[in-house]
Amino acid sequence: MKLLIVYGTKAGATAHCAEKIRQQLPDGLRENADLTDIRQLNRRKITEYDAFVIGTPIYMGRIHGKIRRFFQRYRKRLLDKPLHLFICSLAPGAEGVTLFRQKADPDLFEHAAQVSQLGCEIHPDRMNAFYRFIIQKIMETEKPEVGLRDDDIAAFARGIASGSSPS
Ligand SMILES: Cc1cc2nc3c(=O)[nH]c(=O)nc-3n(C[C@H](O)[C@H](O)[C@H](O)COP(=O)(O)O)c2cc1C
Repeated sequence: MKLLIVYGTKAGATAHCAEKIRQQLPDGLRENADLTDIRQLNRRKITEYDAFVIGTPIYMGRIHGKIRRFFQRYRKRLLDKPLHLFICSLAPGAEGVTLFRQKADPDLFEHAAQVSQLGCEIHPDRMNAFYRFIIQKIMETEKPEVGLRDDDIAAFARGIASGSSPS
């Protein structure tokens, strides 16, 4: 099975998470898994893949614009193949997943074998001044938990390998 792991990112957390997912895959699957930033995606190659893992961060309540457009453009193909979705967000667990559900295509969301929120990272040094200001306010007022959750990432990778929900 040839697997495409594609992610959107602004500050690198979702890229880091996608790489961790890839590392957790069993050898045979990992060797056949291509990992790519949506900005570098070779669209002609999409037809090569048998399954998709798609990751997005949440910014101001919205998913990454290029991932949203990817969902629209490849909707039919994605509905036809095993699909695994993950998000990196401050909104934890089920709260993050609910946020994602509100922004994603309902049919794709229902079709996905798993949809998981896997934590988040904050990299102020990789943000513009506006984002830095906003995140500083959020951190002060909400004091959210920050960090990628390795156990959930490992469970998500197991879910990909088994083609079903994480165990
Ligand atoms: C300006 C800004 C706005 C954000 N807005 C949200 C939000 O609305 N909901 C949420 O759950 N997380 C929010 N986050 C947290 C990001 O989703 C989180 O930091 C994620 O790991 C970023 O991924 P990236 O580094 O791949 O871009 C925000 C972060 C920043 C910096």
